Amino acid sequence: MAGLLYSSWFLSLLLFCFASLARSQSFIGVNYGQVADNLPPPAETVKLLQSTAIEKVRLYGSDPGIIKAFANTGIGIMIGASNGDIPGMASDPNFAKNWINAYVVPFYPASNIILINVGNEVMSYNDRNLMTQLLPAMQNLQNALDSADLGGKIKVSTVHSMAVLRQSDPPSSGSFDPSIGDLLKGLLEFNNATGSPFAINPYPYFAYRSDPRPETLAFCLFQPNSGRVDSGSKIKYTNMFDAQVDAIRSALDAMGFKGVEIVVAETGWPYKGDNDEVGPSIENAKAYNGNLIAHLRSMVGTPLMPGKSVDTYLFALYDEDQKPGPTSERSFGLFKPDLTMVYDVGLSKTGNQNTSSTPKASVKPAPKSKKDAWCVPKAGVSDAQLQENLDYACGQGIDCSAIQPGGACFEPMTVASHATYAMNLLYQTSGKNPWDCDFSQTATLTSTNPSYDKCSYPGGSS
Ligand SMILES: *[C@@H]1O[C@H](CO)[C@@H](O)[C@H](O)[C@H]1NC(C)=O
Ligand SMILES: *[C@@H]1O[C@H](CO)[C@@H](O)[C@H](O)[C@H]1NC(C)=O
Repeated sequence: MAGLLYSSWFLSLLLFCFASLARSQSFIGVNYGQVADNLPPPAETVKLLQSTAIEKVRLYGSDPGIIKAFANTGIGIMIGASNGDIPGMASDPNFAKNWINAYVVPFYPASNIILINVGNEVMSYNDRNLMTQLLPAMQNLQNALDSADLGGKIKVSTVHSMAVLRQSDPPSSGSFDPSIGDLLKGLLEFNNATGSPFAINPYPYFAYRSDPRPETLAFCLFQPNSGRVDSGSKIKYTNMFDAQVDAIRSALDAMGFKGVEIVVAETGWPYKGDNDEVGPSIENAKAYNGNLIAHLRSMVGTPLMPGKSVDTYLFALYDEDQKPGPTSERSFGLFKPDLTMVYDVGLSKTGNQNTSSTPKASVKPAPKSKKDAWCVPKAGVSDAQLQENLDYACGQGIDCSAIQPGGACFEPMTVASHATYAMNLLYQTSGKNPWDCDFSQTATLTSTNPSYDKCSYPGGSS
């Protein structure tokens, strides 16, 4: 692989193929919650989404005005029946029929409804009665879809919290809570028989909150860290998202449902919290969501599901200002009610596909007339300073996708190599002036190719 990467031509082709593949699939969605009194009209939200790489949206409910607003956009829509609908839907087939006739039939296929979630996190509410009604409700809804001739087109599922797992660490030991094992088995047989996905809400954010150490934060934010070796599979995990998703994969596989796909119905990170909340900040939210998006776009997959990205619905499109609880609960939004970004998370339509499909290093090698030089950190610079340089450089509009998970220069996963890559890239792209390689006097120019030479863009070797 490394040898091939030296060939600029091959690299261009490879990246082009990845970019095309990424464009032909759509796996980035967003949660469009309504617990707010300041949201823009649905039509404006639709326009906003159309200007981004987001191609799917999840509604918690089934507001006809919103479903209709998405007509003729191609945007995939997950809608939801509420937990309160479950008893009626379970006991009365006509309730389910009426529901489909009210919320699906009038809008489909103009509105691209792809999945109906019955209930939200029902299996973690400790309401055994409601839990037992979930499967019959889903079956009645499926029957209603079938009789409306929509059975193969629209799937039925339900959304789970990570609490359905008894064990998730290490990922290979992932297993479901045996106290709800029989009920889950029924739901999974339904997923398996109808081809609908197992929908779940993994939150590395909560994993960090229960273990707020710096190395856990880096692991959760897809930032350079020493990784965690799964003692069972011997696989080294480099981020919490993959670890959580693979724990679910292991739990499904252990029950014999290797063919049931996973959908991440929610994941996100708040950009604001109360003083006593550990974790929320603009920097962390931007790092988590931005790196997650880059990870999904890279198509690298997880160790147990390599080569494809799990469908992922970011939480959330907007803050929901009417939600109770700590400030963080109302601070997960990616966009403000005036449709501007809370922070730039790389959701532009082209995103890093644009830059990576036209890597300047490959298409236009640096002119040989200019003496080749690399900008590298001086010896003895601390990791903290390197991290600052890294953040600074990548904040200047250069393309840092190669050092994000799945990128060609993600390995070695150290602050030093990532910072060297980014500092040098900034130097190379901002005119190769000596003052572009200063970084508060922590960097210097060298004529020696740094050891990670294949990643010392644009370098002199190409
Ligand atoms: C899953 O579905 C397939 C095809 O319908 C079936 O052959 C298989 O037995 C099912 N697996 C389980 C564990 O129920
Ligand atoms: C996208 O690529 C074009 C060249 O094909 C370039 O001019 C433009 O600056 C790129 N956009 C971004 C956001 O990198």
